[in-house]
Parts: sequence; C-alpha cells; structure tokens
Amino acid sequence: MTPIPVTTKSISHAVELLKIGRLVAFPTETVYGLGADASNPDAVAKIFAAKGRPIDHPVIVHLARAAQIYDWAESVPDTALILAEAFWPGPLTIILNKNAQVSLAVTGGQNTVALRIPANPVALQLLEAFGNGIAAPSANRFGHISPTQAGHVAEELGDSVDCILDGGPCSVGVESTIIDLTDTHPTLLRPGRITRSQLKNVLHTEIRLSSQNKIRAPGLLAVHYAPHTMALLCPAETLIAMVDEMCSKGKNIGILAFSDVIAALPCPHLIQLPECAEHYETALYSALRELDNLQLDTILIEQPPDHEAWAAVNDRLNKATV
Ligand code: TXA
Ligand code: MG
Repeated sequence: MTPIPVTTKSISHAVELLKIGRLVAFPTETVYGLGADASNPDAVAKIFAAKGRPIDHPVIVHLARAAQIYDWAESVPDTALILAEAFWPGPLTIILNKNAQVSLAVTGGQNTVALRIPANPVALQLLEAFGNGIAAPSANRFGHISPTQAGHVAEELGDSVDCILDGGPCSVGVESTIIDLTDTHPTLLRPGRITRSQLKNVLHTEIRLSSQNKIRAPGLLAVHYAPHTMALLCPAETLIAMVDEMCSKGKNIGILAFSDVIAALPCPHLIQLPECAEHYETALYSALRELDNLQLDTILIEQPPDHEAWAAVNDRLNKATV
C-alpha cells in the first residue's frame, strides 16, 4: 500500500474505510498507529491478523476529546482527569477500568482499557471526523521496531493495511508513556517522553514501577521493539575495542552512537545520533531500521547515560538488544 498525502479528501476516504471495518494507518506524535473502529470487534481482529500479534494483547483506544473518556471507562478517577488536563493531547496513555460496552477484542480479554488523545494534527483530524474511538497499536509486525515514517508502515505491513495516511516523520519517535490508574497507587507501565517525575509533579504522589504490577502489556516483554539483526549495547569505553575485534574477524557491523569520540571510528555503517535525549529519541527507530535493512552481522549501540531523561530510550534499547 502506497502512503497517501493528507487532504480533506484522503481523510474522508480514511473515515469511510474505518466505518466499513477496514484498517487505516495514521501518524501520531509518537509512532504510526494501525487503526480500526474500536467499537467493531471484527475490525479490531484485523489489526491482530495484520500485525501477527497474539489476540490476548490489548490495544490503545485513541480519542479526539477528553469527554469521550466516559464512553469507554467505567469509573473515572480524579487522577485521570488531572492527567488528561495536563498532558492531552500528548504522548500519555491512561489505563482505566472499562465499561460494559467495551469489547474484549480491544482489551485483550482484560477488564481495563487504555486511552489516549494523540498530539498530531492528522490524527486529531481523523479522530474528529470519525467521531468514535480508534483502536491502534503501533503499525509494525509484532515484536519489530515501531514505524516513525509512513514509508516504514508500507515496508512493514504491505497490503494488509487498506490506507496509509502520510503525515511525515513523527515528532516524538517512541511510544507513549503508559500509566495504570486502576489501583489506588498509579503505576508506570511503560516509560515515554512524559517522565515519571512529570507525572509525580502533577499528581503529587509517588508513581510505582510496573514490576510491582500484574497487568500484561506486550511492550513489557523482554524482546520487543527489536531489529532482526543481532544488536548489542556497549558502553563508550569498550565500544572502540569491540569494533576493532569484530572488524578483525571480518564481521560486517553497524554502529549507533551519540558521542563525538565514537563518531571518529572508521566504520562505513555508523549513524551518529543527537546527544540530547529527546532528539535522540526522535531519531532512534528510523536509524535502527536503516541499519537493520543492511543485512549486517551485528549492530553495536553506544550505551546512553543512566538518567531519567533517557528512561524511554534505555527501556527500548534494553528490549532491542540481546
Ligand atoms: O504511542 C503509542 O502508544 C502508540 C501510538 C500508535 O499511539 N501505540 C502503541 O501501541 O505503542 P502498542 O499496542 O504497540 O502498545 C500499547 C501498549 C501495549 O504494551 C499494551 O499491552 C498496552 O499498551 N495496553 C493496552 N491496553 C492495555 C490494558 N488494558 N492494560 C494494560 N496495558 C495495556
Ligand atoms: Mg507496538
């Protein structure tokens, strides 16, 4: 499927497709989503088939307006309203108890539902025009790297998607932060651009980490967001020696680096990413995908700092590497 430019006409076309239970890939500020009418279980089932994803994995329901929370959640705690007010539209997904109308196809059989209003003009136009929730996981094959450009979606899903809206590259580049509010203690299920400290500052309470929580989320699987090529994380101090050793063995390697020292390495497949955590985050998946397409033996990734600003990047890199 060739991505199509965003126009009033292509948005209407996408809405018509969603209404008849077909799949539409669309840009969000985080990554591209593979969308279906969240109220139509047959349409949602097509998402799982296209991705090759196990059916017990829940998907996020995307909304146009915060008032729509009440169409999906059974009880809405004040904490949800406070977070929605502070961070929506934006890269934050909120898990709440679902109401009786929400199909188990969307929630992977669980009694909770994941909700988010994305901060991307194309996504918002589509959601507003459709008027209902759009269920959408990232538009990649299960377990692979999420797409941050329309071309990546075409590469991943081919003709198993009925329309790809091309909204250009995603500005955030990693999946949304996920917070679970179904317990009295808010729990962070997946780190993202919105940090744990930001959530804490707005809620004035400690945010637990997901190891203390039992809800299943495939983003929490050890191997996820991964390239096909073997990838290794390596501290800057040992990276140079590692490159020498691998090159002397005739290995064809790729390097993902951010510090200047490494950038001086004589490697034909070296991608230098920004030193700023947010800019690195935006560029990461596209760079990984580029190296993954080169049929290399190994991708060596310079280990980023262990600092909160890098939490989302470190989480995804730990899952992408062996
Ligand atoms: O930024 C994003 O979140 C992107 C864009 C498209 O919005 N979507 C995304 O979807 O990353 P996906 O399906 O690749 O990851 C969604 C995560 C999964 O880890 C899923 O398990 C979790 O959200 N999730 C969805 N519903 C849930 C629920 N009811 N309880 C716990 N986790 C849930
Ligand atoms: Mg995904």
